[in-house]
Amino acid sequence: MRSDKVKIAVFVSGGGTNLQALIDAQRAGRLPSGEIALVVSSNPRAYAIDRAVDAGIPAVTVCRKEVGEQFEGELIRVLEKHGIEMIVLAGFMSILSADFISRYPQRIINIHPSLIPSFCGKGMYGLHVHEAALAYGVKVSGATVHYVNEIPDGGKIILQKAVRVRQDDTPESLQKRIMKQAEWNILPRATQLVAKKLLKERKGEQSL
Ligand code: GRF
Repeated sequence: MRSDKVKIAVFVSGGGTNLQALIDAQRAGRLPSGEIALVVSSNPRAYAIDRAVDAGIPAVTVCRKEVGEQFEGELIRVLEKHGIEMIVLAGFMSILSADFISRYPQRIINIHPSLIPSFCGKGMYGLHVHEAALAYGVKVSGATVHYVNEIPDGGKIILQKAVRVRQDDTPESLQKRIMKQAEWNILPRATQLVAKKLLKERKGEQSL
């Protein structure tokens, strides 16, 4: 028997504050359609792994350096083993191939720390995004949750939230404020929206 919640894997590589926001949302009952069933880290030293362990969520490391060409094969093996139906990229620093992405159509989402289509695409990750926003002089930035397709940061937008840029902002202060005011808010909300949609689709299939 399948669970009545969509099984979600969260892919991480670093600190995992977005993973924490998802765990907190689940605990608070704000993720009723989904269950964080697995955390996958591309980095064996990611603090995100400790957060998963503390929350009692199975965590595995799949490191490209260690497994080389087997990287995506290994990811698929782990995802299938845990019956994963949806993937949330939350600070995952490894690029996934079009072939991998096509296995999970409309089932992979990503959080990006700007208002797409600004400051996104190749090379736009981490502090680079905020450096570029400040260098351009925008007065408003923010975060976007979008579906993942074969174009980097190019999939359909699910949710966005704007954050005011301050005159004295540094890339670091802007990054922190965007995380706090936008990312940790819209990622759990978007995850719930997509999980709800997938549950509905699943029910539709069952009644055919
Ligand atoms: C976040 O800024 C997210 O938008 C970006 O990577 C960062 C991950 O931070 N994709 P954390 O690991 O969730 O703390």
